[in-house]
Amino acid sequence: MNILILFATYSGGTQTAAQIVETELKKAGHTVTLSNPAEINFEGMNGYDIILMGSPSWEHEGQDGQPHIDFMQFMSHMQDKTFDNKKFAIFGLGDSSYAHFCGAVDHLEEFVKKAHGLLAVESLRIDGFFVNQEKYTQELTAWSKKLLIR
Ligand SMILES: Cc1cc2nc3c(=O)[nH]c(=O)nc-3n(C[C@H](O)[C@H](O)[C@H](O)COP(=O)(O)O)c2cc1C
Repeated sequence: MNILILFATYSGGTQTAAQIVETELKKAGHTVTLSNPAEINFEGMNGYDIILMGSPSWEHEGQDGQPHIDFMQFMSHMQDKTFDNKKFAIFGLGDSSYAHFCGAVDHLEEFVKKAHGLLAVESLRIDGFFVNQEKYTQELTAWSKKLLIR
């Protein structure tokens, strides 16, 4: 498969998570491209069998549970586009001490739904990545394997 991973990060966790997924998918023989959502346009998303999106949840203009600013801009640029039956999968890094734990995942799921895309697997919500890195490396690896059997 030809796989695109869009990710954005503030403190590096989502990049590490994206690289864990990339390693696993490449090990299985797939072609993987990593990109920032701010650097991609609609045409650039063609030709991929599945698009993964990974974002931290953050506070934006006084509201918590928001996606990374690059994903907010991406969703705004893509708001009139449709991705009929295109497969997506979402992972999010967050912290359950915030009221809207992994709110970014909910926003990205809504985006996929509105754009008529399909969620290939259940979204992965990660609570405290750096505190539980070993556990989440295993969960990301298992989640990547699930993608391969869809
Ligand atoms: C200012 C700030 C706001 C945050 N807001 C949320 C939030 O609303 N919901 C959540 O689940 N996590 C929240 N987090 C936790 C981050 O999403 C978490 O630390 C994540 O691992 C950061 O990913 P990154 O290293 O890729 O930037 C917040 C963290 C900070 C510093």
